[in-house]
Amino acid sequence: MSNPATPPAVGVLDERAPLTFPPGFLWGAATAAYQIEGAAAEGGRTPSIWDTFSHTEGRTVAGHTGDVACDHYHRLGDDVRLMAELGLKSYRFSVSWPRVQPGGSGPANAEGLDFYRRLVDELLAQGIEPWLTLYHWDLPQELEDAGGWPARDTAARFADYSQLVADALGDRVKYWTTLNEPWCSAFLGYGSGVHAPGRTDGAASVRAGHHLMLGHGLAVQALRAALPDAQLGVTVNLYPVTPATESPADADAARRIDGLANRFFLDPLLRGAYPDDLVADLAKVTDFGHVQDGDLATIATPLDLVGVNYYSRHVVAAPLPGEEPERYWRAATNWPGSEDVRFVTRGVPVTDMDWEIDAPGLVETLRRVHEEYTDLPLYVTENGSAFVDAVIDGQVDDAERLAYFDAHLRASHEAIAAGVPLRGYFAWSLLDNFEWAWGYTKRFGMIYVDYDSQTRIPKSSARWYAEVIRRNGLAAQ
Ligand code: FCB
Repeated sequence: MSNPATPPAVGVLDERAPLTFPPGFLWGAATAAYQIEGAAAEGGRTPSIWDTFSHTEGRTVAGHTGDVACDHYHRLGDDVRLMAELGLKSYRFSVSWPRVQPGGSGPANAEGLDFYRRLVDELLAQGIEPWLTLYHWDLPQELEDAGGWPARDTAARFADYSQLVADALGDRVKYWTTLNEPWCSAFLGYGSGVHAPGRTDGAASVRAGHHLMLGHGLAVQALRAALPDAQLGVTVNLYPVTPATESPADADAARRIDGLANRFFLDPLLRGAYPDDLVADLAKVTDFGHVQDGDLATIATPLDLVGVNYYSRHVVAAPLPGEEPERYWRAATNWPGSEDVRFVTRGVPVTDMDWEIDAPGLVETLRRVHEEYTDLPLYVTENGSAFVDAVIDGQVDDAERLAYFDAHLRASHEAIAAGVPLRGYFAWSLLDNFEWAWGYTKRFGMIYVDYDSQTRIPKSSARWYAEVIRRNGLAAQ
């Protein structure tokens, strides 16, 4: 882990002084079950919506599936050793619901839970704090067949599953995240359908968003009762939304997209109410009749922390008559009731996902959550970038990814200096992995994975990150 590479300047933040983070800052890396585990049909696991979706023709690039992925299920020991070599203070992973509760109801599957017990034990043995996410998108297929997240009962099923995991792992896991990015589950899963289960129904996507949050609230109540000392939170993916021009029409477009992307989740979770303007924007899609008395109080059950996933910014403009809907995650149907808002590109550098690199947006996002919503400790639970990697002489020199991390860590530090109680940062991702609809074509890892041989190669960014962790900050440049 010597000789860390020097990040090239990316010109997004000027500061190039050495930066030290607060003592105890939780340096981590994140993954998700379906993206890395493989062993899709082993140990009693039953299919999730992602198995069904990825095995359906035309849903993922080149028909890629998570059947094998990084084979982490069989390589857990080696992977934890790699984490230890990086000096990670924490590892954020998710539990596969159909691995621990096949079919999504009934008793726990001991073999599935044993896998996570082993993982947690190995992490603890290496002094790495396990950070457990209960739902990173792998709904048991049977629950989708029964209506999925648009059906209210799925929220109760999620609380039930959460209780099983708490009973099994609560004695050794301190940090718990209920949901990862409910926006993606709701709007990519049920709106545009570019994610599993691939449904395209605006009203269903809004109901899904509500029931995800209801499930979160019920799960927090169950976890709180079972584990009074645990640190409980949720992870939302947030975007600053900027109008393309100063025109009132563009400002209104930004207000609408901010409503759907950010406030749809932040307001119920942290204020116990949907924003009035969002409800008005959605009037032609739904009358919110699915919201029952008491739901919003449940959704706003107090938390110990909030996780923020940050990747990029949305820049939007008012509709132009006759404009075609946008593609992929900005597909029109991701934005029910606001389908015609235009997403504008600014010509700034982008990652291999075509996501604009915007480190100051992370400062803005963290400050907003803190200043407008909550005093709770915040964690960046995901941040990272896909770039095309080349293995040359057995090495991967990912200078652009390294620069992305560097810029966003400087942004994190700036947020702390501005008073944000930011307590940790998790790089996405530990390993290259199954990037959902993009299959294995997008690499986000700090560790390169050769999917044929399952060889792991720590990239330059991994060696650099190890040095950042060791010094609890960034070197001068
Ligand atoms: C986030 C997801 C994560 C990964 C990154 C790139 O939306 O939580 O699983 O796909 O994006």
